[in-house]
Amino acid sequence: MEIVKYPREILREKAKPIEKISDSIFELADSMISIMLENKGIGLAANQVGKLYRLFVINLNPFEDKPELLAVINPKIIDREGMDVDEEGCLSFPGLYLNIPRAKKIRLHMQNLYNEKMVLDTEGIVARAIQHEIDHLDGVLFIDYVSEEEKPKLKRYLDDLKTMNNSNLKANNL
Ligand code: CO
Repeated sequence: MEIVKYPREILREKAKPIEKISDSIFELADSMISIMLENKGIGLAANQVGKLYRLFVINLNPFEDKPELLAVINPKIIDREGMDVDEEGCLSFPGLYLNIPRAKKIRLHMQNLYNEKMVLDTEGIVARAIQHEIDHLDGVLFIDYVSEEEKPKLKRYLDDLKTMNNSNLKANNL
């Protein structure tokens, strides 16, 4: 399994709710956790591995040696508090970092892999990551929130991507 990079269309699609947590969902969550850890990510959404399920994985303990890993199914933010701007990256946009506004604290309703309903209160970087991952499930990307100041930086990044894609195309056409 590989991480889907921008501008692949699936990153703009809306993921579907999971009705039954089958073995294949279990295995998918497992692979996503491995890929996230390998790539030193804090979170990874199913769209980013080519699957349109409302599922993401997250490390709730990103600054400690021992990760605290959770697979989050059918998440819904039911409360938000405060606002904070901080630097954010995305495994589907290697090398791009933008300052993005997000709620400081959130309350999440979700299911875990054992079909248990959970309420999760988080803040700071973990709350930020959860908001970023839920956006992925709705086909929303962090570049959608780019500030006026960082628009030129984003444009350069996207222009470079186009050049790379075009040269790949030419190579393939030979
Ligand atoms: Co992302």
